[in-house]
Amino acid sequence: LDEPSLGAAAKFRLFGAAVSVNHLSEPPYTHILNSQFTSITPEVEMKWDATEPAPGSFSFDAADTLVRYAHSHHMRVRGHTLVWHTALPSWVNESADLLQAMRNHIIGVMQHYTGHISYWDVVNEAFDEDGSRRKSIFQERIGDLHIEEAFRVARATDPYTRLCYNDYGIEGINAKSDAVYDLVRDFKRRGIPLDCVGFQCHLLLGTVPPDMQTNLQRFADLGVEIHITELDIRMPVPASTAELQQQAEDYRKVIQACLAIPHCTSITTWGITDKYSWVPGTFPGYGAALLFDENYKKKPAYHAVLQAL
Ligand code: XIL
Repeated sequence: LDEPSLGAAAKFRLFGAAVSVNHLSEPPYTHILNSQFTSITPEVEMKWDATEPAPGSFSFDAADTLVRYAHSHHMRVRGHTLVWHTALPSWVNESADLLQAMRNHIIGVMQHYTGHISYWDVVNEAFDEDGSRRKSIFQERIGDLHIEEAFRVARATDPYTRLCYNDYGIEGINAKSDAVYDLVRDFKRRGIPLDCVGFQCHLLLGTVPPDMQTNLQRFADLGVEIHITELDIRMPVPASTAELQQQAEDYRKVIQACLAIPHCTSITTWGITDKYSWVPGTFPGYGAALLFDENYKKKPAYHAVLQAL
C-alpha cells in the first residue's frame, strides 16, 4: 500500500524540494523525491551562470533534465532564479549595458521554458537586513527600478507563469520584511506584475519568529500567494536527540503558519537529505537541517511535518 507522503498530505498545496541533477542517479534519492514531493526547485541549474555563461549564449541541458524529470513524475517546477546578485557569470560584471543584459537574460530563459514552469523567482534577495536595497551590481548600475523592470519583462515574456519575489530573513516582522511589504504594496497599487512572495526560511534551530503567521497574513492581504521556498533548520552537528526534537517542533510551527493562510500555496525544503544539504558548506559546524538524514532515514521533523499537514 502507498506510504503516507508529504505531497499527498499537503492536498492543494505543493510540497517541493530543491533538487540537483547530479543526484538523480542515486536510487534512494529519487525514490524519496518521487514518493514524497510534488514540486521541484532546481538548486543551481537555472541560475544565471548556468543558463547564460556567455552573453546571448544559453545552455539549458542540466535544467532541461530536471524539468523533464519533474514533468514525467507529475511534479511542478519553481524556476529559480532570474535576477540575483550572486551566481553571475563574470561577463555580467563587464557588460556595458546591464539593463539590456538583464532583460535579455529574463527573456532568453523564460521563453525557453514557456508553459513548463509554474512559478518563477524573478528577483532574489534584493534587500539588506536594515530594509535598504542590497548594493548588488543591479542596484548599483541600474538602480531601484531594476526590480520592477525585471517583473515587467517577465510578465511580457510569459503571461501565464506566476512571478515571485524571494528573500530570506523576512519570515517575521522586521525592517527587511517591512521593506519587502512596502515594495509589494507599491507594486500592487501601480499595477506592476507580482503574484507571489517567497519566504526562504533558512532558519537556525529555535528561531522561528513568533509573529511569522501574522507576517505571512499581512502579505497575503495584499493579494499575493505566499510560498515557503527554501525551508531548512540548521543546528550544530552532531545533533543531539533533544535538538532533533526541537527541530521537529520548529518545522511544525513553520508548516502551521503556512496552513493558517489559504493563500500559502507552496512549501519547499532546500534539499531532501542532510547528505547533500548546502548548510555544512555555508555554515561551518552546522548541519542536519532537512527532513531526511544522511542515510535517507526519516527524522522526527519529517513525522512532525506529515502530522501537521
Ligand atoms: C545555494 C545552493 O544550495 C548551493 O548549492 C549553491 O552553491 C549556492 O546557492 N538562497 C538561495 C539559494 O536563493 O539559491 C541558495 O542556494 C541558498 C540561499
